[in-house]
Amino acid sequence: MQRKGIILAGGSGTRLYPVTLGVSKQLLPLYDKPMIYYPLSVLMLAGIREIAIITTPEDQSQFIRTLGDGSQWGISLTYIEQPKPEGLAQAYLLAEDFLGGAASTMVLGDNIFFGHGLPELLKKAMLQPSGGTVFGYRVADPERYGVVDFDSDGSVRSIIEKPEVPASNFAVTGLYFLDDTAPQRAADLTPSARGELEITSLLESYLHDQTLEVTLMGRGFAWLDTGTHASLLDAGNFVRTLEQRQGLQTGSPDEIAYAQDWISAEQLAQRAAIFAKNDYGRYLEQLLKN
Ligand code: G1P
Repeated sequence: MQRKGIILAGGSGTRLYPVTLGVSKQLLPLYDKPMIYYPLSVLMLAGIREIAIITTPEDQSQFIRTLGDGSQWGISLTYIEQPKPEGLAQAYLLAEDFLGGAASTMVLGDNIFFGHGLPELLKKAMLQPSGGTVFGYRVADPERYGVVDFDSDGSVRSIIEKPEVPASNFAVTGLYFLDDTAPQRAADLTPSARGELEITSLLESYLHDQTLEVTLMGRGFAWLDTGTHASLLDAGNFVRTLEQRQGLQTGSPDEIAYAQDWISAEQLAQRAAIFAKNDYGRYLEQLLKN
């Protein structure tokens, strides 16, 4: 069975208030595209074509308006409501029917990845027949994330959610390749002190069975934060700097769909026409000429 994708884009985005009072965080612009385009692009780069998008009930219609059914990119998008933000691991319960026994790749709707070699890293994780793969990334402020605790021999001892005293500088990014047992494992979890089904508890269950691979993303990768007003602007500027310098897009589902041969030249031309007035549209037109 083909691995399916999940984008978790729930939450109320309170840390970005008042910006997110009227619009979901994951739909805010990251320079020239909605934020969710970037994690969606990661799933598409991995070769995943069946994707569920989990949002709050209130925000769902905005996501549908922004992304549609996915046919413009040769993929299929399904929308699932998360009535209350009760933890990342809850996504596997909400998506259980959608997954229908398939393995999954879940990405958080506000996680931005960039780096040479990303497709290869994704492909390797895609091929893992069972168990899970997550990615560790060195950050200056690990206490804000799930943190990897390494043994002296470099093997992973545990993963701890937002520890006061982090055991390492390696945060677990919001990109989780888990096998078909994830929904069952999520169902067996008990909520944490803050009342959430923690993703780190789910990962602990794999660790316990010695079936969790923690792959480190080296310093040549960028894993960007969009959790505060300043970091959101910084991430947007990062994308702008790259795109201006290289003349290449990052996080374009249109470009990836075309490169993957999931859409025809005519379909790409239709998309380009929608954006004809701006650089994004001109970029897609250029792709057709090359
Ligand atoms: C969540 C997870 C955390 C992970 C992080 C990645 O934290 O709970 O383990 O490191 O995403 O973005 P949150 O963003 O919900 O605080």
